[in-house]
Amino acid sequence: MSIYGDYIKSVIRTVPDWPEQGVNFRDITPLLQNSAAFRKLIDSFVHRYQEMNLDAIAAIDARGFIIGAPLAYELGCSFVPVRKKGKLPFKTISETYKLEYGHSEVELHADAFQQDDRILLMDDLIATGGTMLAAANLIQRSGGQVVETATIIDLPELGGAQKIRDAGYSVFAVCS
Ligand code: PRP
Ligand code: HPA
Repeated sequence: MSIYGDYIKSVIRTVPDWPEQGVNFRDITPLLQNSAAFRKLIDSFVHRYQEMNLDAIAAIDARGFIIGAPLAYELGCSFVPVRKKGKLPFKTISETYKLEYGHSEVELHADAFQQDDRILLMDDLIATGGTMLAAANLIQRSGGQVVETATIIDLPELGGAQKIRDAGYSVFAVCS
């Protein structure tokens, strides 16, 4: 939990039965619409990462971009998008991961990182952890070093953060 974790949690909306019956969807749009809350969110990441000597922030398509870009600006490091399949124009490397039904794929430009670059990987939410873990593995394969994975919301009952930790990565969540 971060310095503003309880406050951030209080401005996230739960939408019942969306996108399907039985799912409680955690909606960050009220947090983003609230300028004071959005600032506190970015500040909580700045507070954690300002002394970590990062080279780049990598963030996951699409909601990860919303937090990754302002943090990269604030810390003065580069920003690298990890995108869904078919969106990046140059030479890519990719990682496939399992969904409940079927597969998905994330991609990275092959020249995104220098060997041993210190990278923070960000996304808005960890559910099963499949997306974050695939992106972390992709970065490691490209030669970068994943210093930590960071998210706004962890859904601990789904075990995603534990799965990412079991694979050897550190996980930071602003709230659960
Ligand atoms: C959501 C969320 C994470 C991922 C988490 O993305 O933003 O990226 O799912 O789920 P997981 O931990 O089970 O992998 P979504 O695919 O809905 O994309 P979006 O950001 O483009 O809305
Ligand atoms: N909110 C936002 N994105 C998600 C969720 C959720 O509850 N579950 C899986 N992806």
